Amino acid sequence: MKNLYVPQPAVILDITEENFNTKTFTLKFRDPKVQEAFTFEPGQFVQVSLPYIGEAPISLSSSPTEKESFKLCIRRVGNVTNAIHRLQVGDLLWIRGPYGRGFPFDEVKGKNVLAIAGGIGLAPLRSVVNRLLHHKNEFGEIYVLYGDRNPSLLLFKEDREIWARELNLRVICEAADETWKGPIGVVTKLLEDPDIPVENTVAMVCGPPIMYKFVCRKLLELGFKEEDIYLSFERRMKCGVGKCRHCNIGSKFVCLHGPVFTLKEARELHESGVF
Ligand SMILES: Cc1cc2nc3c(=O)[nH]c(=O)nc-3n(C[C@H](O)[C@H](O)[C@H](O)COP(=O)(O)OP(=O)(O)OC[C@H]3O[C@@H](n4cnc5c(N)ncnc54)[C@H](O)[C@@H]3O)c2cc1C
Ligand code: FES
Repeated sequence: MKNLYVPQPAVILDITEENFNTKTFTLKFRDPKVQEAFTFEPGQFVQVSLPYIGEAPISLSSSPTEKESFKLCIRRVGNVTNAIHRLQVGDLLWIRGPYGRGFPFDEVKGKNVLAIAGGIGLAPLRSVVNRLLHHKNEFGEIYVLYGDRNPSLLLFKEDREIWARELNLRVICEAADETWKGPIGVVTKLLEDPDIPVENTVAMVCGPPIMYKFVCRKLLELGFKEEDIYLSFERRMKCGVGKCRHCNIGSKFVCLHGPVFTLKEARELHESGVF
């Protein structure tokens, strides 16, 4: 019987410094058969570990259309992520998963999509957006609305250049520096643009908890239905597979039934951050 908790080694092929505390790691499973069989939905996560240090849930940040490797964008905040940041190309990370329920794809074909990200929340949405880009003709308008505290923190420069050409990209910063020519404020402000579609549109949102309250309020004001707003939630996790009961929102587990929930589901579960 396959043991759910046994991770697979993956080799670090490349490391990109995104900003002062965030790096994107490009990885490939050491066993080619494991790499070949590895499929996931954007919004799903893996449990990433280092022996004798610990394990942390991290979202897949590449599109599942990329088969040769996968990417994890990791901000260093504590024990595991600091240790991961000390690794070099050629070192190993230990991976189990993918786990959880990601953002919808087939169900929303033909619709417009708003991907709304704050800070490191762009990591899972990068996976969503690059998959949508790959299947652009099957969707309506695709908007990426992205905000961070200041320009030096903005992630995925190369992707943003492509999205600016191929999709509708809007970026906002809370504080400007001399390089910043874009709008100033929080990501909710980008929703004031009258071009943003509402009819036949779904919103996929990932960012800090405080952002959800204001983004959801604005989307509802614009006329979005609760079931068309998808939010990715974070909880502290242990098992990642619905066994240890560490990560509940009401009666559901973020690792198993989420991390992506509709606003309707989150409110039914009395998730306080979305009222
Ligand atoms: C589904 C999911 C997807 C995620 N995706 C990403 C991603 O793509 N990229 C990314 O960078 N991060 C992601 N995270 C967040 C990441 O898993 C956490 O930041 C993780 O805690 C890092 O582990 P660590 O050992 O480095 O930090 P920790 O040592 O766990 O510390 C992290 C922070 O939590 C605080 N903390 C420690 N223990 C507790 C506790 N018991 N209760 C409350 N706070 C505590 C610490 O003070 C510190 O500020 C994701 C989390 C989830 C649930
Ligand atoms: S992390 Fe164990 S139930 Fe979710």
